Amino acid sequence: MKRIIVSVLAVLMSVPAMMADNHEMKAFVDKLMSKMTVKEKIGQLNLVVAGDITTGKAADSEVGGEIAAGSVGGVFNIKGVDGIRALQEVAVKKSRLGIPLLVGMDVIHGYETIFPIPLAQSCSWDMEAIEKGARIAAKEASADGINWTFSPMVDICVDARWGRVAEGGGEDPFLGSRIAEAMVRGYQGDYSQNSNIMACLKHFALYGGAEAGRDYNTVDMSRVRMFNQYLPPYKAAVDAGVSSVMSSFNIVDGVPATGNRWLLTELLRDTWHFGGLVASDYGSIGEMMTHGLGDLPSVSAQALKAGTDMDMCTRGFVQTLEKSLEEGRVSMSDIDNACRRVLEAKYILGLFDDPYKFCDGKRRKKDIFTEENRRAARDMAAETFVLLKNDNNLLPLEKKGKIALIGPLADTRANMAGTWCVAYTPDRYSTLKEGLERAVAGKAEILYAQGCNLTADAQMQKDAEFGRTIKRGDDNAMRAEALRVARDADVIVCAMGESSEMSGESSSRSDLTLPDIQMSLLKELVATGKPVVLLNFSGRPTVMTWESRHVPAIMNVWFGGSEAADAIADVLFGDKVPSGKLTMTMPAATGQVPIYYNHLPTGRPVPDGAKDYRKYQSNYLDVRNDPLYPFGYGLSYTTFAYSDLTLSKGTLASGGSVRATVTVTNTGSRDGYEVVQMYIHDRAARISRPVKELKGFSRIHLSAGESKDVSFDITPELLKYYDSSLRYGIDPGEVEIMVGPDSRNLKKAVLNVE
Ligand code: BGC
Repeated sequence: MKRIIVSVLAVLMSVPAMMADNHEMKAFVDKLMSKMTVKEKIGQLNLVVAGDITTGKAADSEVGGEIAAGSVGGVFNIKGVDGIRALQEVAVKKSRLGIPLLVGMDVIHGYETIFPIPLAQSCSWDMEAIEKGARIAAKEASADGINWTFSPMVDICVDARWGRVAEGGGEDPFLGSRIAEAMVRGYQGDYSQNSNIMACLKHFALYGGAEAGRDYNTVDMSRVRMFNQYLPPYKAAVDAGVSSVMSSFNIVDGVPATGNRWLLTELLRDTWHFGGLVASDYGSIGEMMTHGLGDLPSVSAQALKAGTDMDMCTRGFVQTLEKSLEEGRVSMSDIDNACRRVLEAKYILGLFDDPYKFCDGKRRKKDIFTEENRRAARDMAAETFVLLKNDNNLLPLEKKGKIALIGPLADTRANMAGTWCVAYTPDRYSTLKEGLERAVAGKAEILYAQGCNLTADAQMQKDAEFGRTIKRGDDNAMRAEALRVARDADVIVCAMGESSEMSGESSSRSDLTLPDIQMSLLKELVATGKPVVLLNFSGRPTVMTWESRHVPAIMNVWFGGSEAADAIADVLFGDKVPSGKLTMTMPAATGQVPIYYNHLPTGRPVPDGAKDYRKYQSNYLDVRNDPLYPFGYGLSYTTFAYSDLTLSKGTLASGGSVRATVTVTNTGSRDGYEVVQMYIHDRAARISRPVKELKGFSRIHLSAGESKDVSFDITPELLKYYDSSLRYGIDPGEVEIMVGPDSRNLKKAVLNVE
């Protein structure tokens, strides 16, 4: 019998969030609440969209009236410090108790200076840069009146059909957890400055598990998977002190998350000791009715009792809770608890000391879209591009001769920033064409042709644009022009892929290849025999199997934000060296999804790299199991070599630690960054464990010719997991330790765990 070392669930759980033991705050909130009517308390739980507010008219607007009546606790997605100040004045001067408003916004990857979409950011594996990006986003947003961002989104997803993968950190719980912490730190800091804003962890929980990758769809998974694979990033954000959480649209164990008491109270509050505020997602209390949970009074009461404090946009709380209290469906303490948490959030933000803390009109000029912020966004964008293929070192390009720039993403301004950027100002962002022209500065000639529409079908293009228009023309004429331009050029750069709204919310796709008409044009361009570089714009993994065989250079540029154009030029021409590595597996065929590197072994596995179909083994007749590009993969303009892996000791004792070390050498002729990755595999456990799991990474700089030792400390804590009874512990026995440049190419050593 194996000796099992287990620690109970609760031991791992977080230090109570800072708000819980602040006596002054408690006294303040107690006193305030003692003056509040039931109606006013319920009013604090109401979170509404503000709409356009013209200064001077705030009090007369519909929402202004509600605020004055004390029936609103927070507003969101209103842009502009003047309008926000005007609403805040209504709350402070016209409502009976003068309670200031929370002012939220989806500041997902920047405010006006836009950073790359979160999925791209994760491919940088650069936690410092990610934290800095969140810091800058908070600084800009707070300079324009915002005190609450609905970020970070940390939903794990292994199905690239789901468009919202663009907003998260990819498929891995370990990396996702580090990103969650970095973003929470970046946004909130220690709340000591007026540039720290409240973060909101979302979407709690399991939203990325939507069946068939279709947004808002059913989620159903085992607790073992939930605890080991999907929950860690949420937990990490809670441990990092996030002050608010947004519940998700989906069901968890059959109960909508927004009304799920196990999730929002037993797990989040009682087990993880989260002390902050929980808001519903947009209308998700109302959607509980569509899920089949009863009428508005019932679902509102259920959501409140489950642990939802703020009702975003359903107005179910303000419309029904007073009556439900009279009827005994909810208790006074249910309402009090929720109201207290809203008031505490306001207290922590410092709004009771100064309701206009975030309404300093003078800050816009010095804090928003500054050179410094834009420089940070440009630097980060360059770190997120993933070089997937580079035959004969086609890249970087020289700034000389004639460069054809072709594709529907080459000359669009509005599509550079990517999905979810409410406050963006696209008129100020460069198109890729402008970026390249600026970079070559007359030393090379950029020949441009759009070449094709975004998609052959006009309606599909319209849906995919969602207002961010890409010119439509006659496909034959466009293609002819592109081929003419291509024949005249020395090299062809294709700017193809998705428009920015082909990923993000409500943008699921059933086919992950390049859109139809773009694919045909690409084939014709390759057929010219000229060297072709494909810059793939995407908010999700793309299936590029044909491209990987026929296009000599492929770089995934995702959506790089407001400075994407210059950042792409930086890397394309070699002023910077690419270092991004995939954080979602790139499938070889759409039918492979869900596909992810940290899957469980089957009883009938086929070996990695198997070339043929194998009867009675776990594989497909028509496609092999291997992805096209694995998790962690990405090339550089230089090359790196890994020595064998050594362990400081062969055995890991309980309470001990073993150091795993490799020497990494830059064997090429350029300086560059390498992301060294450490994975484990538990060979004999209580339950079936993933074939590989990321447990460490290190982004290092190596000058040409330089070598560095990279070490990872392996502790028992790192090896723990939840078994079928949700016991958290490790197993004695053999654990494989693997280190390498991606999840496929790994040096291995075996560690004995006591
Ligand atoms: C999204 C959230 C977002 C909210 C407010 C919802 O549709 O799911 O992520 O924060 O809208 O805009």
